[in-house]
Amino acid sequence: MRIPFIAGNWKMFKTRAEAKAFAEEFAKLYTGTDVKTAICAPYTDLQTLVEAFAGTGIGVGAQNVHFADEGAYTGEVSVKMLEDIGVDYCIVGHSERRQYFAETDETVNLKLKKLLEGPIRPIMCCGESLEQRDSGVLFDFVKSQLEGGLAGISAEDMKKIVIAYEPIWAIGTGRTATPEQAEEMCAFIRNTLIDMYGEEVADEVIIQYGGSVKPANATDIMNQDEIDGALVGGASLKAEDFMKIIDF
Ligand code: 13P
Repeated sequence: MRIPFIAGNWKMFKTRAEAKAFAEEFAKLYTGTDVKTAICAPYTDLQTLVEAFAGTGIGVGAQNVHFADEGAYTGEVSVKMLEDIGVDYCIVGHSERRQYFAETDETVNLKLKKLLEGPIRPIMCCGESLEQRDSGVLFDFVKSQLEGGLAGISAEDMKKIVIAYEPIWAIGTGRTATPEQAEEMCAFIRNTLIDMYGEEVADEVIIQYGGSVKPANATDIMNQDEIDGALVGGASLKAEDFMKIIDF
């Protein structure tokens, strides 16, 4: 039984005061839902959210991490530092990081492996560009991201990883994938995981869809068989909207 998991990705939004205000409002709204949730926030907001969500069951996630234990990596943050704050999740390989910060399948793989040494659950992002979709290479491309990103990761560790399918053309564009398009790729992802890890493991993996998820389209997306959750950008910035999505 996969428990639905809907996470927010705030990207580079919200100061500490804004994060605290969101957390107080959201924690009041969140009572009594079966859906697991988390907010993936900028580093500077993590401590505030961990404190504000203590005892509520609402998780906290980072949006990136470095793969080295420690060292001369100016501007970077280690897994140990995130563990020290008490975060539950960490996004790895978001398309914005691949596009603007030279993230590759290889660095995604190193980051996943480092996170899997400890308790933080990775949310690994994958997804094709519009050009790749239009030219028909979308499935090959997503498969290559999965095979590259997950190389050498054991079946036991795979169960801890959440996969987020986020077609680049649907991110922040208001152009959501249709529920059928999202379901088709999420089913493909699960089949790829079956090939890589067998049915028992693939059955347990949470697969999220991300890309312009809003209160108005959350039900149709969440009702798909192979979609177990959502990774929500813009609509996670308002507590009321995010709660409506969780209440799909
Ligand atoms: P939007 O929901 O703003 O399209 O962003 C999706 C996303 O990138 C979540 O990681």
